[in-house]
Amino acid sequence: MPDFTGRILLNNQQNPLSLIKFNDVLSDIKYLKELASTYQLDFVGLQKLSDIYTDKAVNQYGQHALVSVDEGVGLVDLHDPKLLPLCVDFTADALLYRKDKGGGKNEAIAKAVGIKGIFRPSVVDATAGLGTDSFILASLGCQVTLLERTNIVCALLHDGLERGRQDGQSMDIVARMQLLPGNAVERLHALAQGEVEQKNTVDVVYLDPMFPHKKKSAAVKKPMKMFQTLLGHDADADDLLTPALALASKRVVVKRPNYAPFLQDHTPTMQIKGKKHRFDVYLL
Ligand SMILES: C[S@@+](CC[C@H](N)C(=O)[O-])C[C@H]1O[C@@H](n2cnc3c(N)ncnc32)[C@H](O)[C@@H]1O
Repeated sequence: MPDFTGRILLNNQQNPLSLIKFNDVLSDIKYLKELASTYQLDFVGLQKLSDIYTDKAVNQYGQHALVSVDEGVGLVDLHDPKLLPLCVDFTADALLYRKDKGGGKNEAIAKAVGIKGIFRPSVVDATAGLGTDSFILASLGCQVTLLERTNIVCALLHDGLERGRQDGQSMDIVARMQLLPGNAVERLHALAQGEVEQKNTVDVVYLDPMFPHKKKSAAVKKPMKMFQTLLGHDADADDLLTPALALASKRVVVKRPNYAPFLQDHTPTMQIKGKKHRFDVYLL
């Protein structure tokens, strides 16, 4: 089983995290129990969603929990009932719109990973998060392996992939995405050292670790704020670069806010700059 201790230390969570099912939500209890057990979450049954926004619930479950709502499994902040549950939804209109009407091969991320002509690199996204970048790459035709160390985020991704598989518009894309829970530093080492065949098939390692937001910067979108409160800052992000460079056969791409330093102060071969963030590209 992957080691999730880092997550608990990072989030400073005293309580075990819970997956809560409400009486009035129509969902498969067997599926939710399996999801909870796979990602080491306590499974809890409660009457209704409003029951969790109380001091008693915060004492019992901690600040964050996963809840089962009609849209799927979502992350909630028990201190803030105004924040809607944050689900991973690969069938969401905004994501499918970006797939159909976005820049496609001209998107900065596509250029950064080296999509050109008919070439589609295979990608290990070592910091999968909510899977948006992975989904964009998979929608452009890349095979993407998603690595994620935080159990609660893995459960969100797992549920998003599961629902994506059942949706006519996203099933082909999601079929190109594979989730591997666990710490990427160890996974990247293992892939580079042990699995020689696999090494040949990993063209690109993609990194997008959490970086603290500038206080003055424009308000982060609300659901993302919840994600940031849950995860904090990936203070060990520098550790990812060396194993990423050892595994990738073509390039390593690091997404960073424009004001952030290079990982390990290592100057990239080239940079692709956007309004808020940039892609540091290390060619191999
Ligand atoms: C900024 S988010 C990534 C967002 C993602 N690119 C997206 O499009 O949704 C960073 C994620 O990387 C994960 N992460 C950071 N360091 C990691 C590591 N060493 N191993 C696995 N996951 C890691 C964090 O738990 C977090 O979920």
